[in-house]
Amino acid sequence: MSGVDSFAHFSRQQGELFIEQRNLNQIADQYGTPCYVYSSAVLKENFDAYSQALQGREHLVCFAVKACSNIAILQLLARRGAGFDIVSVGELERVLLAGGQPEKIVFSGVAKTASEMRRALEVGIHCFNVESAAELEVLADVASSMGIRAPISLRVNPDVDAGTHPYISTGLKENKFGIAIEHALDFYQRAAQLPSIAIKGVDCHIGSQLTDAAPLLDALDRLLALVDQLEEQAITLSHIDLGGGLGVRYFDEQPPTADDYLSQVLQRLGDRTQCLVLEPGRSIVANSAVLLTETIYLKQSGEKHFAIVDAAMNDMLRPSLYQAWMAVENCSASTAPEKTYDVVGPVCETGDWLAKGRPLRLATGDRLALFSAGAYGFTMASNYNSRTRAAELLVDGDQCHLIRERETLADLTRGEHLLNPE
Ligand code: LLP
Repeated sequence: MSGVDSFAHFSRQQGELFIEQRNLNQIADQYGTPCYVYSSAVLKENFDAYSQALQGREHLVCFAVKACSNIAILQLLARRGAGFDIVSVGELERVLLAGGQPEKIVFSGVAKTASEMRRALEVGIHCFNVESAAELEVLADVASSMGIRAPISLRVNPDVDAGTHPYISTGLKENKFGIAIEHALDFYQRAAQLPSIAIKGVDCHIGSQLTDAAPLLDALDRLLALVDQLEEQAITLSHIDLGGGLGVRYFDEQPPTADDYLSQVLQRLGDRTQCLVLEPGRSIVANSAVLLTETIYLKQSGEKHFAIVDAAMNDMLRPSLYQAWMAVENCSASTAPEKTYDVVGPVCETGDWLAKGRPLRLATGDRLALFSAGAYGFTMASNYNSRTRAAELLVDGDQCHLIRERETLADLTRGEHLLNPE
């Protein structure tokens, strides 16, 4: 069973829920709810687990910005040596603002535009993870017009089943990502003919929340076979990028640790000289944060008990979109009778729920913490129902930093224009 005990750096002290040395109820008093509260200690430990497992081998750990893009968090990771996996010029500008080094950035995504490519070439990123033959031609033109060479790797679709939720599985032939591995050779041969393209590597990303290393290792084997095939054609790669995908514990999953997973990767790589690039997102941030929310009303409808809270699907979409299970706890010890609650938000959709069928002791006004909220939480938030997006806070020991202000009502209509008077 999941609960505060299974999350490092969260604890209960005299019944109150703490993140590092800070009481979550006090954070809610000070900053209001809903808000995301992250632990620096968890972020550091999770990132360092990757670096430490790869010590002594050339590597680049590129944090997947889409998982959590707050610039203070990117800055914390950049300071520990992280590179970044981006999918838009918006993410690129965030990384640069956060002090990330351009030469540690890989650019993924199926629809990079010419202007995004130009900006990334201007700042000198490490590599474009090219996803189609058409994209290669556009990139070659853009680089050529700038009189430079664009570093590329091909995102190969290795056709392995990641065994995860279909919405977050990306490495099957039927998915839109990458180029089928059997067409990879043709692609590289074409790339080798283009003077404005510099071939650097190969990459894949087969899916997310993988709780078993086997599909990842299977994908790696297929990439390595391709690397050998390319070498026979005198096409030498300087890096192999295995993407992200390592899962985390939300409930009772037991995914391999970064160390377990990477020791198997290193074993397979043997004495190959290529730099190992990784693009982890979730495994670094998911369990670093809670979404803090306040109970507005308790309501009984027939046999059902609802806890209506001030966070909704616009703040945290994962339960609605993927039926994701995330642990939820009262931030205080409560003597209220235990009931089985659906925890739901204020948005006018039946699909607006955060947790279903949870035994909780609750009174109106109690704060709840939704765990494992750090990855694909705030980054997937919207203003649906004209709700302002939540604040974000980063706790470091006994310090709590406001790293994103809660949106104001004025923010909601910023950039909108009324029609001229009739
Ligand atoms: N690299 C690429 C090219 C990706 O598309 C992704 C995630 C990652 C790396 C990072 O994967 P991770 O280590 O976080 O598994 N919103 C969904 C997850 C979507 C993942 C999209 N791609 C969720 O909340 O479960």
